[in-house]
Amino acid sequence: MNYSSSPIGIFDSGLGGLTVFKAVKDLLPCEKLIYFGDTARVPYGTKSRNAVISFSKEISGYLLLKKVKMLIVACNTATSLALPEIRRMSQVPVCGVIEPGVKAAIAATPYGGKILVIGTKATISSHAYAKALAKANKNIEVMEQSCPLFVPLVEEGWTDKAVTEEAALEYLAPYRSKKINTLILGCTHYPLIEKVVRRVMGNEVHIVNSAMAAAYASRQILQENNLLAKSFRKGPDRFIVSDAPEHFSKMADMLLGLKPDKVTIKRF
Ligand code: DGL
Repeated sequence: MNYSSSPIGIFDSGLGGLTVFKAVKDLLPCEKLIYFGDTARVPYGTKSRNAVISFSKEISGYLLLKKVKMLIVACNTATSLALPEIRRMSQVPVCGVIEPGVKAAIAATPYGGKILVIGTKATISSHAYAKALAKANKNIEVMEQSCPLFVPLVEEGWTDKAVTEEAALEYLAPYRSKKINTLILGCTHYPLIEKVVRRVMGNEVHIVNSAMAAAYASRQILQENNLLAKSFRKGPDRFIVSDAPEHFSKMADMLLGLKPDKVTIKRF
């Protein structure tokens, strides 16, 4: 079997992972992608560790049955809580979003300084970023802020409304005086409100988009495992959700200009 022609499986709780999907598609146009959005159970960020692990394993198992050659966990919450479990059950390489985001943030802050990580409640209370950043560079001071309203706002398509800016001000204004060097968008939904975050934090802060970083990391993993597609892909990418395919389709177009031919439903 020629694994290099197999698809890549990508999943998230909902729309956020599409930021990773799009980055991978732009970087690796020859690859066939299968995207799974767990729209019946979004958000993950307010759920318990056990729930996130169980959802992530269910979806990974489903994508592995589709013979994917690599899994991309396009969700910071699932990466911070479930990555080791997913790796244990997978016969193919698994790429999370936290390690790539940390690498990009360290590269952007080479002389040390202050890094602010924003993410879901679950990601922030796991301290996955803080631990990885501290390990990578001792001269980094890490601050962490959960922004639980951001995911529902993005899922609703409210990426540039006054209420979104209000929420961003509430969460982030206290950091404006703290001379933050780098801010990590530690949730794959957040690149969709990067403009709002930028407006609140100002132009001096370097913003790391973990979706882009994950796409580069995925390319490297495929290269190292000799799994890069060798010829142009045939057939469209596939989109599967656990509920409300029409809303998903509409938002994918509105927020990212993606026009899925068809979105199918898989319920667990
Ligand atoms: N986009 C996900 C993340 O990166 C999940 C957000 C959520 O469902 O709460 O954390």
